[in-house]
Amino acid sequence: MNKLDIEEIVRKEIVDTVLKTQEFIVAGNWKMNKTKQEVKSFLKDIKDYDFGSKNTVIVTPPSPYLYLFEEELRYSSVLYGVQNVFPKESGAYTGEVSIDMAKDFGCKYAIVGHSERRSLFGECNEFASKKVRILLQNNITPILCIGENLEQRKQGDYKQFLVTQIVEGLARIGEEDIKKVIIAYEPIWAIGTGETASPDQVEELHVFLRSFLVERYGEHIGKDVPLLYGGSVKPANVKQLALAQSVSGFLIGGASLDAQSFIKINDILNGN
Ligand code: 13P
Repeated sequence: MNKLDIEEIVRKEIVDTVLKTQEFIVAGNWKMNKTKQEVKSFLKDIKDYDFGSKNTVIVTPPSPYLYLFEEELRYSSVLYGVQNVFPKESGAYTGEVSIDMAKDFGCKYAIVGHSERRSLFGECNEFASKKVRILLQNNITPILCIGENLEQRKQGDYKQFLVTQIVEGLARIGEEDIKKVIIAYEPIWAIGTGETASPDQVEELHVFLRSFLVERYGEHIGKDVPLLYGGSVKPANVKQLALAQSVSGFLIGGASLDAQSFIKINDILNGN
């Protein structure tokens, strides 16, 4: 056997080991998509599927369909959440969804500060931090999204921007609670564009963010905060991205809409 063949066998073994042992978080963000029939059909396809017990599988549908998730996923290992919440208990907030409503339907997760909410609805870090706080008080895990746009990336000062999004998004959160937050790095230039950040870019950034979290919040907290990557993740690229250091999982838009592609991604992240 030549040296290249041996290297290939060793590399494959390392990849298999990572995929079969590392615990990933695999979260689908449906955004504003699907009809009731489409939701039912997706749930039928995934309901009895064996996702295994290693990874945490989450779907965040549009809120009007949460009742279907509650009905269909009661005995499933698939968890679900909301794409947004309003940081008040109740009241005159037309069009908003409260945390109690999310809890009523069994939501365990809530996305906070997605770049689409920031750019289309003017949401800022301070508003995100209010949501993070009230979610934690209610035992719902916030998935705090951060990410730079193309211009910021080109200008080169984007790392400071990301750090500010984290620090301000986690403002006034007790140290032990910081561990309960999931951070999702989603470069805006890679969202819905088909242009994924390369595994090297993802690794570089995730290692940077991990180091920052350890430096800022101490090792026992910083090393445990899950760091997801999001932006054009699909079955064809998820394996390479999963091998990037400090990547704890994925926040997936388009490729989570189709049950078979969502299942395929999960299969890959189980080493199947
Ligand atoms: P895409 O996977 O469609 O690029 O979306 C990513 C995203 O915004 C998930 O929150």
